[in-house]
Amino acid sequence: MLNLFRIINYRIYQFNFYVASFLMRHRKPILITGAGSIHKLPEVLKKHKIDRVLLVTDKGLSALGLPNPLMEDLSSNNIQYFVYDGVQQDPSVENIEQAKSIYEANNCEGVIAFGGGSPMDCAKAAAARVANPKKSVKKMRGLLKVTNSLPPLFAVPTTAGTGSECTIVAVVKANKSQEKYAVTDFKLCPLYAVLDPELTLGLPKHITAWTGLDALTHAVEAYIGQKNTKESAELGLKAVKLIFESLEKAYQNGEDIYAREQMLLASHYAGLAFTRAYVGYVHAIAHNLGGLYSIPHGLANAVVLPYVLEYYGSSVYRSLAELADFAGLASANQSTEEKAKVFISAVKELLRKFDIPEHFEQIRDEDIPLIVSRALHEANPLYPVPKIMFEDDCTALVKKIKG
Ligand SMILES: NC(=O)c1ccc[n+]([C@@H]2O[C@H](COP(=O)([O-])OP(=O)(O)OC[C@H]3O[C@@H](n4cnc5c(N)ncnc54)[C@H](O)[C@@H]3O)[C@@H](O)[C@H]2O)c1
Ligand SMILES: [Fe+2]
Repeated sequence: MLNLFRIINYRIYQFNFYVASFLMRHRKPILITGAGSIHKLPEVLKKHKIDRVLLVTDKGLSALGLPNPLMEDLSSNNIQYFVYDGVQQDPSVENIEQAKSIYEANNCEGVIAFGGGSPMDCAKAAAARVANPKKSVKKMRGLLKVTNSLPPLFAVPTTAGTGSECTIVAVVKANKSQEKYAVTDFKLCPLYAVLDPELTLGLPKHITAWTGLDALTHAVEAYIGQKNTKESAELGLKAVKLIFESLEKAYQNGEDIYAREQMLLASHYAGLAFTRAYVGYVHAIAHNLGGLYSIPHGLANAVVLPYVLEYYGSSVYRSLAELADFAGLASANQSTEEKAKVFISAVKELLRKFDIPEHFEQIRDEDIPLIVSRALHEANPLYPVPKIMFEDDCTALVKKIKG
């Protein structure tokens, strides 16, 4: 009875939010795409009269020299750049503050976010802090808490991926409490996004797989949710199809530039889809596995995804069957239920090919209540999931994931 009351309340909240979202200002980044398109970025900065820019990236990318050609282009266009490359996996509040200090100390006029989701989210949050110096990151946690607009932000994803170059989210890690949380505001959407597949050619196999499966999870969670628009549903379908066509190719042959390009597009479409239609319990649980055990985000999603899809049961048969049909995974003579099960099997098959484990044995029994309460706090009532989960089911699910 209590649960029924909670379900009704959550659904009313989600409905109201859905209606209100049509009144909100949705913006998409201006796209610069294609092999070598990173070389066009300095011209764009010039167009915006930016002579001093903060470049946010991470140590791994600096060591690889991946941002070097961009830096050379900036210099030859007389644009001064100031680098912050201290971003950890899952950016911390300290990372964000360090990036903000460099911006301010050098009177920067814009921010380039160069890297995977971690540098992009650090750059987004640092830009939000520059524009809102009196509001701490913690105070911006949650929905629509960023008051002032950000300085011009240019996102260059080097993984495919998070879709952060087009989303309204920055995921932050509180190192002390080992909690990951989201700052979500339309103002966080970058002004420009550069989708250059050449930047992703050197992604190691395991990061290709994990990040690609993050994109798949975005697309699937958005598509099976209850609050799609026509556009978000189409984007989800397209992303899932592209991922089934291209992720394995990119994994097997990292130099396959066409597959890399398709994956960047898929990640971008999936980012747009979930910006409108949200994610679900896979992300809510995965964020907590990332927070407590530093499990990379894509890997956490990949392992959790089949468990949550199976938990949803018949509530997702129709939507998963549609995804299976669109991605060409099912045959015409199969029933809706069979097609949905084909979809889940196809996901599991991909995970096997990419050597993704079936369990996370590192989950500690004593942490399970915290994982459950934080995951449900993240998801309920915000995410318009196909079937609402409460403590008992979530505990059983996390135990299954532990194995
Ligand atoms: N803002 C959003 O909408 C959103 C969505 C999903 C996930 N996220 C967040 O993004 C973060 C994860 O981002 P990620 O999965 O892209 O990983 P990441 O940014 O943490 O990078 C993972 C590793 O890949 C390396 N790497 C990146 N690009 C490379 C390249 N081209 N070649 C070689 N190595 C490369 C990095 O140096 C790093 O070591 C998490 O914090 C997650 O919560 C944000
Ligand atoms: Fe994600």
